[in-house]
Amino acid sequence: MDIKLIYFSQTGNTRRIAEAMAEVFRAAGHTTRLVSLKKATPQDAVACDLLGIGTPCFSSQAPTPIKTFLQNLPILDKKRAFVFATSGGAPGRVLYDLTRLLQRKGADVIGGFLARGELHHPAPCLHGRMPDRPDAEDFAQARRFATAVIEHVSAGRSGSIAESRSDAFKPRGGFYDFVASISTDSFLRLVLPEPKLDPTRCTQCRWCVHECPMHNITLQPYPVLGDQCIRCYRCLTGCPQQAFEVNWRLANLVIWAFYNTTLERWFGDLKPGERIY
Ligand SMILES: Cc1cc2nc3c(=O)[nH]c(=O)nc-3n(C[C@H](O)[C@H](O)[C@H](O)COP(=O)(O)O)c2cc1C
Ligand code: SF4
Ligand code: SF4
Repeated sequence: MDIKLIYFSQTGNTRRIAEAMAEVFRAAGHTTRLVSLKKATPQDAVACDLLGIGTPCFSSQAPTPIKTFLQNLPILDKKRAFVFATSGGAPGRVLYDLTRLLQRKGADVIGGFLARGELHHPAPCLHGRMPDRPDAEDFAQARRFATAVIEHVSAGRSGSIAESRSDAFKPRGGFYDFVASISTDSFLRLVLPEPKLDPTRCTQCRWCVHECPMHNITLQPYPVLGDQCIRCYRCLTGCPQQAFEVNWRLANLVIWAFYNTTLERWFGDLKPGERIY
């Protein structure tokens, strides 16, 4: 079987989950290619027998770059597919977003997997949450899920796999699904601060231009942000010169009001006793 895993990943958590799954597929004798969203074309999704789509969760949903990629795919005509994501404690509808968009293209989605991923969000109330995740147990679970996927598909079984998370097929409809529904990109641009450049630190290395998932940064001659920002803060957290900054005073409070650990325990995905910081 030809297997393609197309993933969006900024800090490597989702990519490493994809790699763990790919090991299982290759060990079972299947040709498996990992394709970063930066390089993926619609043809990558079409030209395979089994398609996996992975993403980090942003604002309790799938981020715009991966949604746009899926929306622009051609008809997938019953192609077997599965979805996977990494997130902190409030995944909301991230898996369902991927499933729904694949199903709209006619794909046959057989299951969804979610692992924790350390947060590299620069807001002080979030930074460093879920340290060292995904960990050995997360990777073991990813491999078990991949094993179930490959057995299911190789045996020609229909329907979904028992190892799937149920929220890959049906939104939980809780608080974080509501937060996801109001957190449109334009709303986020309104309530969250835009990264501001300190040109005295910038060496015009172009890293942020290549790394912005919205192609929203141009050098003129220093980086200038356009109007498509999704507030992923990758430019800020990854700039080698730390040339971007944000005043978090008010925004940190707004984020904390929605993503504090009490609410995430009640309405999110946090397990009792789970290590958060
Ligand atoms: C801008 C941003 C928004 C995020 N929003 C959420 C969220 O709403 N819920 C959640 O559970 N995790 C959230 N996270 C955490 C990421 O989903 C998590 O760290 C993920 O593993 C990152 O994956 P990557 O390393 O593949 O980029 C957010 C992270 C960032 C950077
Ligand atoms: S990554 Fe940093 S140093 Fe490089 S161009 Fe962007 S702002 Fe300047
Ligand atoms: S400009 Fe920066 S914060 Fe905005 S989408 Fe691009 S990388 Fe993310």
